[in-house]
Amino acid sequence: MRKIFAFLLAYFPVSLFSQDIVIKDGWKFKTGDEPQWSYANFNDSGWAQIEVGKPWELQGYPGYDGFAWYRLHVVIPSTIKEKSFLKEKIRFDLGKIDDGDDVFLNGSMLGRNAGRGGDIKKGPYDIPRSYTIPLNDRRIKWDADNVIAVRVYDHGGDGGMYEGNYGISVTDVTDYISIITNQPFEFGPSRKITKKIGLQSTTDQYDFTGKLGIAIVDPVSGTTVFKQTIGADFAKNRPFEYTFSANLPETKSWQVVYHFVEDRSGKDITVSEGIPYILTPPIGKEPRINGPKVYGARQGAPFLFRIAATGEKPLSYEAVGLPQGLQLDKKTGIISGSINAKGNTVAKLTVKNKSGVASRKLTIICGDNICLTPALGWNSWNCWGLSVNDEKVRTSARAMFEKLADHGWSYINIDDGWEKNRNQQGEILANEKFPDMKSLCDYVHSLGLKIGIYSSPGTLTCGGFTGSYQHEKQDVQTYAQWGIDYLKYDWCSYAQVAPEHPSVDDLKKPYLTMRDALKETNRDIVFSLCQYGMGEVWNWGPEVGGNSWRTTGDITDSWKSLSGIGFSQYKSAPKTLPGHFNDPDMLVVGKVGWGPSLHNTRLTPDEQYTHISLWSLLSAPLLIGCDMNQLDSFTLNLLENDEVLAIDQDPQAKPAKKIYDKNKIQVWTKELEDGAIAMGIFNMDDLANKQQLSLKELNLAGSVKLRDVWRQKNIGAFTNLSVQLPPHGVWLLKAVSSSLSQKTSK
Ligand code: GLA
Repeated sequence: MRKIFAFLLAYFPVSLFSQDIVIKDGWKFKTGDEPQWSYANFNDSGWAQIEVGKPWELQGYPGYDGFAWYRLHVVIPSTIKEKSFLKEKIRFDLGKIDDGDDVFLNGSMLGRNAGRGGDIKKGPYDIPRSYTIPLNDRRIKWDADNVIAVRVYDHGGDGGMYEGNYGISVTDVTDYISIITNQPFEFGPSRKITKKIGLQSTTDQYDFTGKLGIAIVDPVSGTTVFKQTIGADFAKNRPFEYTFSANLPETKSWQVVYHFVEDRSGKDITVSEGIPYILTPPIGKEPRINGPKVYGARQGAPFLFRIAATGEKPLSYEAVGLPQGLQLDKKTGIISGSINAKGNTVAKLTVKNKSGVASRKLTIICGDNICLTPALGWNSWNCWGLSVNDEKVRTSARAMFEKLADHGWSYINIDDGWEKNRNQQGEILANEKFPDMKSLCDYVHSLGLKIGIYSSPGTLTCGGFTGSYQHEKQDVQTYAQWGIDYLKYDWCSYAQVAPEHPSVDDLKKPYLTMRDALKETNRDIVFSLCQYGMGEVWNWGPEVGGNSWRTTGDITDSWKSLSGIGFSQYKSAPKTLPGHFNDPDMLVVGKVGWGPSLHNTRLTPDEQYTHISLWSLLSAPLLIGCDMNQLDSFTLNLLENDEVLAIDQDPQAKPAKKIYDKNKIQVWTKELEDGAIAMGIFNMDDLANKQQLSLKELNLAGSVKLRDVWRQKNIGAFTNLSVQLPPHGVWLLKAVSSSLSQKTSK
């Protein structure tokens, strides 16, 4: 049994997706739009090869928006019908498509995914395409060449068949059964976990009986520490529910595997999930000052900085040596006012409570540069998508204030979906979801937090709302009147304004216009560029005033997306500078959803540790993308580890380097201000990875003192490391007293 589970774990880390034929390879591609491209007998031999599961932007079509077609020739063997238990339907899984699609089988329409009013240009980019037809449908040519043709329209950003599962399968018993695992784990004393799971059917044609196996496995050693098999009996309106409990031997990565075998057909279904485990130690009673150690502001601009400090409340705050023009509210820790002269000041911050005193220096640099350390905040997109509204933003601000602001988190950023249209004077108006932007900004500021907004240099944003094209100055004036502190500026429909093949100057142009507009206000507005990395933006982001710039297309909550984005940052990482950061996109931890309904991130707990560790090493802006009102203890543990955040916020913002890449282990390092080296050892493998690493190979000389950063614990001095990592896991260390050469691995 153990072996079977280990095998399943290796191959189906999230869920089993049964496909008789995998259709990943052999796709042909052409930009444009011609009706005959759907025909079975159309000669596509001159078309380009393309991979599915990757946006076309990354395959030689940078910045391409509009129509394009994919075609695939595939033989569908009749044996797949024969081996199925219920001989009913055939399903074509075509992954997610950005933005809309029409799909043809041998020249006849199989299905379409369009937006409002049947408009292919507004298709749902985030929904897996699955088209099902009866086995006796005349469109299928059994045991012969079939042509699947996919017509795609992309209106901005990444395009094409960019992610997902690609296969043809005959639907079977197991397609009607789901193992429900969405109830949270509950945690008790002695590492007790309890969880309710279920089995559900989506058909009223059959009742099901079978056996459900539950096993808890150590993903590194393969040892099973808990095993139970129970009989299950369920129908459409009669789901099966079961609650299991187990005591885990240690606080570390564990996986639960659920395996259901259906009695009549013998067909089975497997789902596995990681059990969240908390590494961040509980927050101490004594005061501790967190957040940035260096802060940039412009002369005369309204200044707002809340001293971030943990410790038992009430805390009292002091600041000695603040620049002229600033005052501290000793009860709230909020420093406000405006600085009337340029220059650097080192202030001494002190925080006290009944358990002790903490002091730290804060360097305030009044000059032309702001946002000297990466922004720490929240953005509405990865959770609420276009359904963001005033109430959701206020709730998020409140939750940030209560739960995370003491660790240095400060920005509350509204993404797309707030805009209405322009009034007669051309001023941008917020839509009915945001009845009073000024009062919203005032509310966020009253908590000592900052607020961000979103627009596009084009006429429309990516979500189809009004953009800033030819209203840049006016929009910035409006933002300033409201009290905005951060602007995400997203290329989107500017593709229609720019030439078809934009030069680097064309790419810079809209950002220079907005930079100049921002310079004219007397507010410090962080400028966040979003154009998906086009023209290697990291080489010129600072020149167009960018405090950060997205380096890739949009992230989603999958390992493929996370690792594809995170581990390709070695190209842009050398360009990291204080005040100018690569932005590998927002965080996908907690409850995310890109719309009104949310789900738990599909990343495993280990992948989430990897996410936060890598983003911190990269000095990336950390923008939480989940519902702040539903922060569970695991997600909080990811976001409130002050030693991890200190790596992200290190004032020198030295570039992260990939120094080792062998046997599916990558090691990334970053030199810190205090002379130590932060080091992330990442397991790229879908399986556990056990290796001996000599620290010499990592360019660390002699015996090196190491600190486990997530556990905030010194672990001794080493010359060799025994690395034992779960699938996609990380070990984040801080090395002291070492010498590291500048070698970088490609
Ligand atoms: C683009 C951006 C996302 C988000 C959406 C909003 O896709 O890359 O981060 O801002 O637009 O429509």
